[in-house]
Amino acid sequence: MRRGESKAATRGANRSSSSSSWKSRYIGYGLVLGFVLMLLYLMVNAQFSNNPNAYLGPATTSKTESIPATTYQGNQAWQEDGSRGLEEGHREEVASAHTERSTGQRQEKDDESEKQRTEKNSIEEQLGNDRSSNYWEEGRQSEKKDTIEFSEFGGGTDDFNNVANTKPICDTSFGKYDICVLDGDTRAQGGAGAGAAAVTLVSPRAAPREWKIKPYSRKYLDGLKPVTVRSVPNPEDAPPCTTRLNVPAMVIELGGLTGNYWHDFTDVLVPLFIGARRFGGEVQLLVVNLLPFWVDKYRRIFSQISRHDIVDLEKDDDRGVVRCYPHVVVGYGSRKEFTIDPSLDDTGGGYTMVNFTEFLRQSYSLPRDRPIKLGTNHGARPRMMILERTNSRKLMNLPEVAAAARAAGFEVTVAGGRPTSTYDEFAREVNSYDVMVGVHGAGLTNCVFLPTGAVLLQIVPYGRLESIAQTDFGEPARDMGLRYIEYDIAADESSLMDVFGKDHPMIKDPVAVHLSGWGNVAEWYLGKQDVRVNIERFRPFLTQALEHLQ
Ligand SMILES: *[C@@H]1O[C@H](CO)[C@@H](O)[C@H](O)[C@H]1NC(C)=O
Repeated sequence: MRRGESKAATRGANRSSSSSSWKSRYIGYGLVLGFVLMLLYLMVNAQFSNNPNAYLGPATTSKTESIPATTYQGNQAWQEDGSRGLEEGHREEVASAHTERSTGQRQEKDDESEKQRTEKNSIEEQLGNDRSSNYWEEGRQSEKKDTIEFSEFGGGTDDFNNVANTKPICDTSFGKYDICVLDGDTRAQGGAGAGAAAVTLVSPRAAPREWKIKPYSRKYLDGLKPVTVRSVPNPEDAPPCTTRLNVPAMVIELGGLTGNYWHDFTDVLVPLFIGARRFGGEVQLLVVNLLPFWVDKYRRIFSQISRHDIVDLEKDDDRGVVRCYPHVVVGYGSRKEFTIDPSLDDTGGGYTMVNFTEFLRQSYSLPRDRPIKLGTNHGARPRMMILERTNSRKLMNLPEVAAAARAAGFEVTVAGGRPTSTYDEFAREVNSYDVMVGVHGAGLTNCVFLPTGAVLLQIVPYGRLESIAQTDFGEPARDMGLRYIEYDIAADESSLMDVFGKDHPMIKDPVAVHLSGWGNVAEWYLGKQDVRVNIERFRPFLTQALEHLQ
């Protein structure tokens, strides 16, 4: 019934007002149309403004570019903070074992003879340092990978067309040393204060940046002077050139631990060879903390590395000089101690430690490339040099050892005390031997002048020092192509036995002593121990040396 009523009412209404229903129908359509348009507007509006990511996401627009850019800057900040933090942390670590000795070393430099320095600045303090730095470097290795990846992505440039061509100028990711490579219009300006000496690369591709680099092979040491390295886009932003040399230059720092014979080679001469040999003498050295007497000692090496004058970069600004080069490398170093690892160290030519010793023989005009070959030269006896230490780690029964070696067939010379000859003459003297014997210490560094294939016999004092001995001389000797023999002192051959007795932890438990910290290792095992070689036990090692010369 209600339905019928309603139908009738509608019909009646339609019939009764046909003209007004036209109007209302138009109004109705208008309303519907308006409503639909409004809905459409709302939908479209919702799509554009309420959910912009859904729209912008897939398209490659400025949004995509800004994502890696942000990540790049973030990484950069993280990296720099990270290295600073680690550097500080490392300093503290080193400080406990090291600072006293380093400071002491600087004072000693003034008033002690070279011989005394070599003895007193015993490398072992630095070895503690090296060991902690090794742990640190392991930690840094994984970070380095990230650094390289983001560098290849961003490359320190905002010119996206040139990303592939642009590498970062400075690599500060490694714990031991930084290296900067400035390729192109590079200008070096001297100066004496920290960061006053500056090297500027003019490159429209490189974003303006600045680093403070200590161009030394152990950047964590105290007292090193930083050099400013920067890139600028416009020539007007760099100092104008006063001299130009069309060869590469290398900015290096001396000092550090130089003065200790082992560090002379490990920290400076080997890294210098790694960095500069590739230039075949056509490179200019710009030196921070130039030590003229030290450079003079190794002048034959320096003159082979570079045919050009060595520049004292700190004094260079007195004359307002700006030196310009097509290529400058700031910093140097090596990954391992006292050796070259061609898989880790970029020598620019696959050079090995054998090549380094060949280079030394050439620098010092040393006659012997090979040791004696027994059985081919009638009557000739192999020559043995026994290095004598006079302060710590003395070979207490050296005359007995020498006598046993003579009995075994060697012609023996004991080298000790201050050499009466010049360094060049001493290098030549060392080259005349076939076997070098010595207790662990900086003197063994002389093995670089032995002929390839000669024998190095290292006597390692008591106290679990084998891995240190391997790192410092064992592995380097093998890398030099020497035959390496190691004689590890037993407890009853050590003077520490007399001091402590067989039941003391120093004798019974060297591992625990190492775990307790570097102090006791440095003071006792390295600092206050002499050795008395058991000749019976030693004899087979002499035989082994002879066999290597067959
Ligand atoms: C490096 O030494 C090896 C072995 O003596 C030699 O074959 C090679 O030619 C040397 N490399 C250079 C670049 O002198």
